[in-house]
Amino acid sequence: MHESFRIEQERGYYVCRMTQENAWAAFAERITHAGTLPELNELEQAIFSRKSGALTLALKGLTGLPPEKIKEAARDLNEWKQKLATALEERRKALAIPSDAALREQDRLDVTLDLPERERGHLHLIPEFIRQVEEVFGRMGFAIAEGPEVETEENNFNLLNIPEDHPARDAQDTFWIKPTGGERLVLRTQTSPMQIRYMQTHKPPLRVIAPGKVYRKDSDATHSPMFHQFEGLVVGEDITLANMKAVMTTAIRTLVSPDAVFRFRTGFFPFVEPGLEVDMRWQGDDAQSREGKWLEIVGCGMVHPNVLRNCGIDPKKWSGFAFGFGVERMIMIKHQIPDLRAFFQGDLRFLRQF
Ligand code: DAH
Repeated sequence: MHESFRIEQERGYYVCRMTQENAWAAFAERITHAGTLPELNELEQAIFSRKSGALTLALKGLTGLPPEKIKEAARDLNEWKQKLATALEERRKALAIPSDAALREQDRLDVTLDLPERERGHLHLIPEFIRQVEEVFGRMGFAIAEGPEVETEENNFNLLNIPEDHPARDAQDTFWIKPTGGERLVLRTQTSPMQIRYMQTHKPPLRVIAPGKVYRKDSDATHSPMFHQFEGLVVGEDITLANMKAVMTTAIRTLVSPDAVFRFRTGFFPFVEPGLEVDMRWQGDDAQSREGKWLEIVGCGMVHPNVLRNCGIDPKKWSGFAFGFGVERMIMIKHQIPDLRAFFQGDLRFLRQF
């Protein structure tokens, strides 16, 4: 081989070697600064991939070298191979432990985010209203009593001063229970029999309300065969009609509306004397009301002496008043609901409004 050519070749080899050294060092540098695992994998491929990895190619290229250089070059390359492999491994380990910065980014939790709304049920507007009734009367010192919906004829009528031939019975469209011997039973047509039950078991002075379901053969926009009433009874010494009016007024103003317009007029109920009715002014558009401007919402009066006597209470010593409110009617006026049947149809579009 010509001397000058050998020198040329040698110089080329060293230049090439220097360039290669720089290239491996640059790879090592990039490995230590790789920011993510995918980036690291890419580098690994670029260096070690079996077909086109830089180091793979360099090792293959060794065969082209003059024999006396092969050994040295192979040693260099193997050293780099070791170094780069170790660097990759270390960097991979380091990247597997997420940095604070990475955590801040990946695990970001926004505590101000609105969660999807949970479906929550609520009471039907009738029991809801009855709870308010109990609260309002509770504040006025009334106890709360409950009684059966299947009632004796005695309690529902006779002891309330409504004997069998009394025309007041006809007005009540009674559901009778098929007799099985013994006492005659009805689905209670009113909550008034609770007056009897309560006075038979409690001594005056007393104050009580009794909410519940009542039944009548009656059905149209303002009547349903099942509806709700709450009965009230106050017995004490020196109880007067003025006390009754005060209680009625408070109840209507707090339960329906502070600006409710209502009127008292005389009415007949066999178990009170005198008897009154309270009508409330429809609060919405008059054309929407199915009963005209005024709706009767409560019957009331001073407890009839016969009724007190029937329960073993001396009417000379004690007096009292009683009242019976129609729950649906109060709610209809409060929310301007023209048709009572909406309460019982179970249409969620209606019920969800309350
Ligand atoms: N029970 C009567 C009805 O359902 C309403 C009633 C009127 C109740 C006068 C009373 C009262 O306590 O005193 O029509």
